[in-house]
Amino acid sequence: MATGATTGAAEPSRELSGADSGGRIRDRRAPMFPDGPAPDPAGSHHERRIRSFQPRRSRVTAGQGDALRRLWPQWGLDIDGLRKLDLGELFGDPELPVVLEIGFGMGEATARMAAADPGTGILACDVHTPGQGNLLSLAERAGLANVRVANGDAIILLREMLQPDALAGMRVYFPDPWPKKRHHKRRLIQPEFLALAAARLAPGAVLHCATDWEPYAEQMLEVLDADPHFENVQPEGGFAPRPEFRPLTRFEGQGLDKGHVVHDLLFRRR
Ligand SMILES: C[S@@+](CC[C@H](N)C(=O)[O-])C[C@H]1O[C@@H](n2cnc3c(N)ncnc32)[C@H](O)[C@@H]1O
Repeated sequence: MATGATTGAAEPSRELSGADSGGRIRDRRAPMFPDGPAPDPAGSHHERRIRSFQPRRSRVTAGQGDALRRLWPQWGLDIDGLRKLDLGELFGDPELPVVLEIGFGMGEATARMAAADPGTGILACDVHTPGQGNLLSLAERAGLANVRVANGDAIILLREMLQPDALAGMRVYFPDPWPKKRHHKRRLIQPEFLALAAARLAPGAVLHCATDWEPYAEQMLEVLDADPHFENVQPEGGFAPRPEFRPLTRFEGQGLDKGHVVHDLLFRRR
């Protein structure tokens, strides 16, 4: 993981001050990453819709900021909701199967999975700027050509920017559990999400979810079992054993430290 001094990536303050690493005076009203990820690229905060994530002010380390500045123009993608993506063009290979990962966090598991499977393109989506910088930095260090980092809300990516049947798979690892009852409506894995996911997955493609939050695991199983677009990869039904190809994720590690039990779910699009 990138380390080092932090620089503010949150909303700029109004004063004209602060020297950057080259000793230049920086206008704090200017965007921190002019060619980097845009804040709220689709203007989704103006859309009247319940979101699965909480907008947060984040601190970006010097290493993450450097990766965002240098690598975003080449490997980054703003989810602006304004165009349909040609995934073959995005990955420079029309034959490459592409898997979407929603909510990669800091991206350590994403980078490891991409390194282990160079024949699959990973479209990794999150709203979290430090994580985007971290994943870009990890991908560069490992020389990964098969990762693209998408900035913004996965729902807009799925709804507006991906073609029908475009995806060879989808991963949702440790989505925010929203444990309070009044927040359950913010959980990602719901019938409406599954209908959208099914429309973007190719027939036979697998949706792989994992969570350490028992009530959410039960909810996932219930809605997936009830969804006519999906069938359980497990012939006997229920949760799947953790597949070897899924590395331990950061949130998973935190859950295991608290004694949580992890559940994997693998469902194939019919
Ligand atoms: C609990 S974290 C898990 C991160 C990582 N998968 C792990 O296991 O360490 C959930 C992540 O999903 C992201 N997220 C939630 N809803 C999202 C959405 N609609 N679009 C993109 N990212 C989302 C959050 O920003 C957060 O980084």
